[in-house]
Amino acid sequence: MNHETLAVESAVKERYAAGALAQEAALCCPVSYDPQYLKVIPDEVIERDYGCGDPSRHLHPGETVLDLGSGTGKICFIAAQVVGPSGKVIGIDMTDAMLDCARRNAPVVAERIGYANVEFRKGRIQDLALDLERLDAELSARPIDGADGFLAAEERANELRMKHPLVATGTIDVVVSNCVLNLVEPRAKRQLFEEIFRVLKVGGRAVISDIVSDEAVPAELQRDPELWSGCISGSLTEPGFLEAFERAGFHGIRLLKRDPEPWRTVGGIEFRAVTLEAYKGKQGPCFERNQAVIYKGPFKQVLDDDEHLMARGERHAVCDKTFRLFSSAPYREHFEFVEPLTPIPLEEAQPFDCGRTERRHPRESKGQAYDATSEAAQCRDGGSACC
Ligand SMILES: C[S@@+](CC[C@H](N)C(=O)[O-])C[C@H]1O[C@@H](n2cnc3c(N)ncnc32)[C@H](O)[C@@H]1O
Repeated sequence: MNHETLAVESAVKERYAAGALAQEAALCCPVSYDPQYLKVIPDEVIERDYGCGDPSRHLHPGETVLDLGSGTGKICFIAAQVVGPSGKVIGIDMTDAMLDCARRNAPVVAERIGYANVEFRKGRIQDLALDLERLDAELSARPIDGADGFLAAEERANELRMKHPLVATGTIDVVVSNCVLNLVEPRAKRQLFEEIFRVLKVGGRAVISDIVSDEAVPAELQRDPELWSGCISGSLTEPGFLEAFERAGFHGIRLLKRDPEPWRTVGGIEFRAVTLEAYKGKQGPCFERNQAVIYKGPFKQVLDDDEHLMARGERHAVCDKTFRLFSSAPYREHFEFVEPLTPIPLEEAQPFDCGRTERRHPRESKGQAYDATSEAAQCRDGGSACC
């Protein structure tokens, strides 16, 4: 038996159904959450904490948040308080007992914080378009009978994905997850990252805490259902985890936290928790507006996710899209920004070849005819002269 024949999803569902009913210490990787947010969360939720990090620390008021594999709802209930009444939180889980516990406690938390901004939906995180409760209702009305019935049910599922998606495309500011991505079986992993990308708005981001390994997980560990549901067998390697986001089209990918100590070591392979952030929004047309960026250092040069190689201290020509990307998180603090003296309105801008890396001569920013001579300017910090 290999992981292809091992019923990974059933093993995971069975383990977490039991973990929803009674606390299982082996599934817990100790995490310290901000205690101010825990006060309103009922004990049965907190006791069944199977997370490995705290993505909720990286949320902001007003955001719409999607939590993948929300379990009994702890991260959703913390996020509800961070995003506040103008924000919204959606938890997704496939295990009924987890959803029951989360839904039972949602009104309790809502009453304690004074508003209700959390809901829980049933789905698989690698297939965020399919609403499993709607499909359930369809299949109860027209039960599957034989192979033809099975094929008809597949058609109906596709129709539901298109007409009534569980999570619609481009609707989420931040996708978070706490110790779940590793539980998705290998053949569905690529689709999982594509789904995270699909549901995010342009400019949105993923903040994911998960278990990763320092070496590839060998086949014999992948055959063990206990290790699968225990967040071990399905772990990606540390670089593999970042690469999966890159392949799905994300940019600005970085580790926000990496536990120096492993959570578990199995056969000499270390498994530890990391929290990663990745942005959606580098796709789209490139226009020339004569803008430039200067990489401030400390490295001699850097390469971005569109293969622009930028040397420290040089003016690099960038398109309007890249200029705007670099003007916001996570890049802003690393660059200086040079706007042209005479701005080019976006409606008049010509296409820009974003595949090249080119220096921007200062004359391009100032204009070839620029011929000014001036007195010494006042320093920006309020001093009377620069030297
Ligand atoms: C390790 S627990 C983490 C729960 C929660 N995030 C926390 O911090 O306590 C994993 C959760 O993900 C759910 N899960 C695992 N694989 C899933 C999948 N493919 N789709 C949806 N939910 C999944 C399980 O039912 C379980 O509730």
